[in-house]
Amino acid sequence: QELQLNLEQIEKGGYDHFMLKEIFEQPNAIRDTYRGRLLVNEAIVKMAGVEDNMKKFLNAERIIVVACGTSWHAGLVSEYIFEEFARIPVEVEYASEFRYRNPIITEKDVVIAISQSGETADTMAAIKLAKSKGAFVFGVCNVVGSSISRETDAGAYTHAGPEIGVASTKAFTTQITVLTLIALRLARAKGTMSSSDYRLHLQELELIPEKVEKTLLSDDHVKEISAIYKDATNFLYLGRGFNFPVALEGALKLKEISYIHAEGYPAAEMKHGPIALIDEQMPVVVIATRKGHYEKVVSNIQEIKSRKGKIIAIVTEGDVSVKELADHVIEIPASEEALSPLLTTIPLQLLSYYIAVMRECNVDQPRNLAKSVTVE
Ligand code: AGP
Repeated sequence: QELQLNLEQIEKGGYDHFMLKEIFEQPNAIRDTYRGRLLVNEAIVKMAGVEDNMKKFLNAERIIVVACGTSWHAGLVSEYIFEEFARIPVEVEYASEFRYRNPIITEKDVVIAISQSGETADTMAAIKLAKSKGAFVFGVCNVVGSSISRETDAGAYTHAGPEIGVASTKAFTTQITVLTLIALRLARAKGTMSSSDYRLHLQELELIPEKVEKTLLSDDHVKEISAIYKDATNFLYLGRGFNFPVALEGALKLKEISYIHAEGYPAAEMKHGPIALIDEQMPVVVIATRKGHYEKVVSNIQEIKSRKGKIIAIVTEGDVSVKELADHVIEIPASEEALSPLLTTIPLQLLSYYIAVMRECNVDQPRNLAKSVTVE
């Protein structure tokens, strides 16, 4: 028993929980994901699984992403990225809905299945269904040799290393990294991005690990904010564009490990319902980075403020306008908008982690949840 505990301490590498360790591993995990694939000097993205099947990707009339949970959120981010970079229409489906819906799938579809564990039963069933209809299925998995990685026609591993905490953190950011690389490769092949824009995104992607490191320096500040809101019973998370899925992901993280009810919304949807919930008891986490429809998000923040909601804003370094309105701001380094989810998600992971710790929840193994959901 004692030996077991000591072993676990060693595996946690000095961190109190696997989740915190995995949050802090993200700079290196992202580097590992793009190592050998992102060749900035040559302006090349090299991925064997994509290269070998380039025709399938280029002829694709649409991409259908199937996944569950956090992986589904990574898929949603990729919808924005694929459409923006490669101009391929994307549909993002919950695997559990897709598999039972008699969906329309043709040989001209490319299905991307995303799964950290590579063992999720619904995602596996969705893959089998897509294959039976003749679609080409590409897997984005973390666990090497997992069932999904074997079932798919081709794929790309995320190389995030083992993720032990039930709450997915580094799997999410590395999934986004892989999907971004694929989108950039396809954009180049299709000529849907100018060469300067393409090169800029390659360079910026290479800088992301450093920027994640910088973002992680907000750790203590996020801890202080967590102490203020740890007893809240509800949270709202708002974001727009590339950062709308990050709002969903932030809310999921909080729900699953701290057991606080939280909802993520596209910021502009507020006025269609959720705004009725806002009062002085409601903390609202708003992703308000400078390039992402900034002015519109600022006006969303004003609406929350005038209803006395408490605002925790994720802003770009040097921000002025949001600072004047928000109760708390957490700064992230500036980056290209499409890559910003890799940064904005970090403080949301930390917020959920510290709130859960302060509520004395079992962070690494939250109640009712398993790391791999192998039953439907
Ligand atoms: C995320 O924090 C979850 N624990 C969960 O939503 C997870 O992402 C989902 O079950 C999918 O798992 P997979 O990536 O291993 O397929």
